Amino acid sequence: MFCSNSGKNTKPLIVNILSIGSTAFIKRLGTYCASKAAAHLLTQSIKQDLEEKGIKVIGVYPGYVNTEMSQDVTHVEKASPESVATSICQGIEAGDQIYLHQNHIFAGHKI
Ligand SMILES: NC(=O)c1ccc[n+]([C@@H]2O[C@H](COP(=O)([O-])OP(=O)(O)OC[C@H]3O[C@@H](n4cnc5c(N)ncnc54)[C@H](OP(=O)(O)O)[C@@H]3O)[C@@H](O)[C@H]2O)c1
Repeated sequence: MFCSNSGKNTKPLIVNILSIGSTAFIKRLGTYCASKAAAHLLTQSIKQDLEEKGIKVIGVYPGYVNTEMSQDVTHVEKASPESVATSICQGIEAGDQIYLHQNHIFAGHKI
């Protein structure tokens, strides 16, 4: 249903929030990294399928972000949610390319 309606939108875009743990193992977060790795591959897969139909797909790969989820993490620097949101907007505007900003990676291409 999503794909059949997508042609009515001029610039359809899917942004998947993944994690640096999608591509690198984080100690004591094995199951989280495994699920994020699967989501990374799903993102790359739908990117191949949907971009043929004009739907852009961008994966966002943040490091630690200062949210409720990471409240127990105190030993590392955490990005602010606001900076992540800004970086996501910049990544979208930058288009279909790998984009590095602080500890965030935006991947339009395979990484
Ligand atoms: N924080 C980090 O360090 C970090 C780093 C890398 C990637 N990420 C990713 O960023 C994304 C957002 O995380 P966050 O840091 O913003 O975490 P967060 O502040 O804890 O927020 C998690 C959000 O997910 C919702 N949620 C949780 N379980 C759900 C469920 N079963 N069904 C529907 N909604 C559910 C929560 O809704 P309620 O408020 O209603 O419970 C909340 O809005 C996640 O995919 C996370 O893996 C986070």
